[in-house]
Amino acid sequence: MDIRNDVLRQLKNHRPGYSLEQPFYIDKDYFQLDMETIWYRDWLFVGHDCEIPKAGNYFTLQIGDYPVVIVRGKDKLIRAFHNTCRHRGHRVCTQERGASAKLVCPYHQWTYDLDGSLVFARQMDESFDKSKFGMKHVHCETVGGYVFICLANEAPDFAPVREKIEPYMAPHRLWEAKVAHQNTIVEKGNWKLVWENNRECYHCAANHPELCRTYPEAPSATGVQGAADDPIISEHWARCEAANLPSKFDMHPDGQFRVARMPLIEDAESYTMDGKRAVRRALSDDVTISHIGTMLLFHYPTTWNHMLVDHTISFRVLPISAEETAVTTKWLVHKDAVEGVDYDIEQLTHVWNMTNDQDRQIVEENAFGIRSPAYEPGPYSELHEGGVMQFVEWYTKFMVDRLQGDQAKLSAVA
Ligand code: FES
Ligand SMILES: [Fe+2]
Repeated sequence: MDIRNDVLRQLKNHRPGYSLEQPFYIDKDYFQLDMETIWYRDWLFVGHDCEIPKAGNYFTLQIGDYPVVIVRGKDKLIRAFHNTCRHRGHRVCTQERGASAKLVCPYHQWTYDLDGSLVFARQMDESFDKSKFGMKHVHCETVGGYVFICLANEAPDFAPVREKIEPYMAPHRLWEAKVAHQNTIVEKGNWKLVWENNRECYHCAANHPELCRTYPEAPSATGVQGAADDPIISEHWARCEAANLPSKFDMHPDGQFRVARMPLIEDAESYTMDGKRAVRRALSDDVTISHIGTMLLFHYPTTWNHMLVDHTISFRVLPISAEETAVTTKWLVHKDAVEGVDYDIEQLTHVWNMTNDQDRQIVEENAFGIRSPAYEPGPYSELHEGGVMQFVEWYTKFMVDRLQGDQAKLSAVA
């Protein structure tokens, strides 16, 4: 059977409030369709402006089949290119990150300017027209210090994302922060299992002793409903908004992204073992009050984030295969904060390194069980797993709309 029809049929028959059928988590063809329908067509968070502060700074990443390079130009603008040489296709930038006045392909040294135009191609014929062989652009937007790209020929409108998330991010001034530490772990599970695990805290008390010292496991704080009815949260929002920190829970109608500023437990200000700040230098001078909790931002399918008074933690999800997902975590601090003076890397990263590893084990055991022929979709807890249901609903609707839209386009052509 045609895989698209198979996936469509499965999604339309999906029982609301239940996990997905087995192939959505393990099948290679289903995975490829996820890549083509979501990952190659929508906006993806890739990294931070502050990682490439100077002209010629770049970083690379691999999204499915696509190698991409993100570069800061001489005009300070950040651009994204397909990292495949217009000569014979060698990767132009082969390192994870670097700095270079021009981008030079290592194979035959075709040389590109930072804006992607080809400026030098050794001993080509006289008739060769360099202007026709610039690096191919990838759509690129920056918002609040975050770089998003879209691989599609035509990108969806980014304005609704910017409009909603920029006011919440701006007070943290992350475009001028610095990455104090980062790491990438590979979880042996489908990218949707990584997200499902992230979207609930039903598992937190039993699995995350370090995180639970400071992060509330209440569904009103971690889920997608009930926040406004929780008096502690409403009071937190009122106090933060009075200090010009947008805080109220706000999710886009299509469910792809959400912002909300949530209080931490009691007096906690940061994700440390004692709840005290991990960084002595505050992250932003625009934040004028203490105890601001955590500004939670997610944007499917690539990122969830915690913006605190002293640092920010960003998470980037990238699928590697049907059963492997890379999760990159970055800890951002004020650019003038000094390691060993204002913060200690071990103290700064301990809670989330432990939490990430605990989540990795959960995702891998979840994937293990789902591989069993005896697996069948099970019911989510309405009280605790509203966020997971919301993710699965978003995924289902998004896939169905696009797959049906593609079919409609095809039949219009035929
Ligand atoms: S493939 Fe890049 S210069 Fe030949
Ligand atoms: Fe977790």
